[in-house]
Amino acid sequence: MSDLLSIREASQWATNYLDKKVTTSNISYLIQYGRVPRIGENGTTQIKKSDLIDYYKKNNRTKEERWKEQLGQDLNWILSFSEYKESETTKHVHRLHPYKGKFIPQLVEYFLDDHIDKFKKEVFFQKGQTVLDPFCGSGTTLVQSNELGVNAVGIDISAFNSLISNVKVLRYDLGDIRIVVNNITKKLIEFLSSKKNTEFEKALSDELKLFNNKYFPSPEFKYKVRSKEIDDKIYGPEKADEFLPGYKSLLKKYNIQLSQKSNEGFLNKWFIQEIRDEIDFVFEEIKQIKNPTTKRIISIILSRTIRSSRATTHADLGTLVEPQTTTYYCKKHGKICKPSFSIFNWWLRYAKDTIKRIKQFDELRTKMNNNLFKENEKLQKVT
Ligand SMILES: C[S@@+](CC[C@H](N)C(=O)[O-])C[C@H]1O[C@@H](n2cnc3c(N)ncnc32)[C@H](O)[C@@H]1O
Repeated sequence: MSDLLSIREASQWATNYLDKKVTTSNISYLIQYGRVPRIGENGTTQIKKSDLIDYYKKNNRTKEERWKEQLGQDLNWILSFSEYKESETTKHVHRLHPYKGKFIPQLVEYFLDDHIDKFKKEVFFQKGQTVLDPFCGSGTTLVQSNELGVNAVGIDISAFNSLISNVKVLRYDLGDIRIVVNNITKKLIEFLSSKKNTEFEKALSDELKLFNNKYFPSPEFKYKVRSKEIDDKIYGPEKADEFLPGYKSLLKKYNIQLSQKSNEGFLNKWFIQEIRDEIDFVFEEIKQIKNPTTKRIISIILSRTIRSSRATTHADLGTLVEPQTTTYYCKKHGKICKPSFSIFNWWLRYAKDTIKRIKQFDELRTKMNNNLFKENEKLQKVT
């Protein structure tokens, strides 16, 4: 075999070399994220065996070895749950709404479930018993208890966290949710038809695509950054400045309003005017929903949508340093990115995703009680 390998050959070679299964997707990932350089164009992609050897020599210590080196040899590796994929740690209703302080469900299973006791000596709960989580946050314990046939009671001081917990364990009329979502979506489309922001966003995306293909080709750009051929701290902002006049002329052409009248308060500061108008529109629609459980879950869809529509960079979704209302160099994606100009796509995506997740949980849930607690009315109005 020569030094040049196709993706398939590389996966076979690496499987032998590492004595563990390396799939073609693993190899594609290394190319896509610039870990090893690609030779040749799409369709005939190849990589050098010597580059793969260099990469594996540097990186092939196991995660367990690396973590133990940093945190101490007495680390209980079972509790790292490192074998789980993100789709498993955020399964079904656990991803109805983000919550930073969340347990992964596998941690709750570890402490509650009596059929995984191969990991431990003591089993804490048996089916039919009742668990109390007095700081239940986003409700992980309540959901997993239900799945495992254990009753659960949850309490939380935060009205919003209580709402998230409640929507995860409630039972729904899925037909009603679909009707309400379709109805709001239709009205939102009508509302947007008098505005120019979706057209603007499409034109902007088209221009960005051309610009990014030229100056940030994928995956070559990321590889050059990793191998320090390009300093993206200088190159990225320079190119972002170069793109800015085009962005401004599109704003003008489509008459897009960015700033709100006031910068005071979260909703004024972190959302551009166009998005704020859409949020207020959907919020008014939600107020009119008759069925209280449908109303709660749709409020959570809107809240998740609002969270993803904040005027911030992709790298700063968690901390929120400064509002980002222009296109910018995004280190995470290695190209020029843009803030959102409409909630529409997020709304549609999260509405579909929510219905799918509720159905998945419906298939797993037992008849156990998840005693709901009333969300604090006063706090709820504030959030
Ligand atoms: C780390 S979170 C728990 C996360 C949860 N295990 C989950 O998976 O989502 C801690 C929770 O305790 C709640 N909390 C803090 N002080 C409290 C109190 N005095 N009474 C009730 N809840 C409280 C917070 O609102 C927060 O939601």
